[in-house]
Amino acid sequence: MTQRSVTRTTVGIVGGGPAGLMLSHLLARAGIDSVVVERRTRREIEETVRAGILERDSVRLLVDSGVSDRVLREGHEHRGIDLRFGGTSHRIDFQGLVGASTWLYPQTAVFVDLAEARERDGADVRYGCADTAVVDLTSDRPGIRFTDADGVGQEVRCDFLVGADGSRSMCRQEVPEPERRQFFREYPFAWFGILAEAPPSAPELIYSHSARGFALISQRTETVQRMYFQCDPEEDVDAWSEDRIWEELQARVAGEDGLRLNEGLIVDKTVLRFRSFVCEPMRYGNMLLAGDAAHTVPPTGAKGLNLALADARVLAELLERAVRKNDPDVLDEYSPRALARVWKAQHFSYWMTSMLHRLPEASDFDVRRQLGELSSVVESRAGSTYLAEAYTGWPSL
Ligand code: PHB
Repeated sequence: MTQRSVTRTTVGIVGGGPAGLMLSHLLARAGIDSVVVERRTRREIEETVRAGILERDSVRLLVDSGVSDRVLREGHEHRGIDLRFGGTSHRIDFQGLVGASTWLYPQTAVFVDLAEARERDGADVRYGCADTAVVDLTSDRPGIRFTDADGVGQEVRCDFLVGADGSRSMCRQEVPEPERRQFFREYPFAWFGILAEAPPSAPELIYSHSARGFALISQRTETVQRMYFQCDPEEDVDAWSEDRIWEELQARVAGEDGLRLNEGLIVDKTVLRFRSFVCEPMRYGNMLLAGDAAHTVPPTGAKGLNLALADARVLAELLERAVRKNDPDVLDEYSPRALARVWKAQHFSYWMTSMLHRLPEASDFDVRRQLGELSSVVESRAGSTYLAEAYTGWPSL
């Protein structure tokens, strides 16, 4: 057997995305050391286009924990969204309804801020690792084995191990089947996402229901915009020329008010498949799962990144207590606390998705019913308030 170099730490974290890095950052602030092991290089993560909306408490967490205040300078505060149907926009006024806003600040920027903060604080984060495996999960010395970016065999031994390794989590697969329950929902559609070099078409996000299917008009910067339209999961991006994409997007937001999207060069095209998924419990022995490793949501409610950050916050608090009291039983609280938020987000994401998308086999009844549902939401203060509350994020417990 080849000799491995062994590192000892308190918390070993598999996955250096937002959940893993935020957890490592919060633990460091509490004086607890950790090692993060990530498969991708820093560059690869920075170049992946991801979603872009932060809840109020996610922004607070980034700022108050000292990760960065760049979100306040470069992010855009959104005080509401537009729900568009029947060719008209209806504003959901978050500030007026619940006194909260969201921030448009891409996940890539959150990652850059977290990676810089971890580097600044001298953290042990290993990017570009291969052959990662986790061992001895139910013992009091679980471990992570991997080959580092220089091809050297490594082993991290820790008191607690965290699987924050994304939706195709290797850590989750290591939980024996009788010990986990998995809940799924598949959707018969996907999103066609583009990045386009154009000025913003609207000051806030537009979620549009149309006879041709859903479209979302989002933004990135003054010169680059992010937009999506519902498509078939098997859609081939190469079958879509720029002209065809603009025609489709324009048709899906067209209406009496004459709304037109600002068009421009399309610099990225991707089909995003999605599903709803939860793995329960989020703990096995001394391994805890966080973020997409434990749950994924359709992007319609903009909850994925926010859930990952919320998991990290709860987990940091409980790990700190478990370490101080030398009592791993404190971690029994993790799964129920995290899952309470996860299931609310599952419902909200499912609800937004099913209210706004066109099912392939939709009857006229189904479409009229959706329009009735959308009218109920925008005309009722209670309906709009529920949406505003959920979208801007439930308070941290
Ligand atoms: C995005 O800007 O990428 C975005 C915004 C809102 C969503 C999903 C994605 O619900």
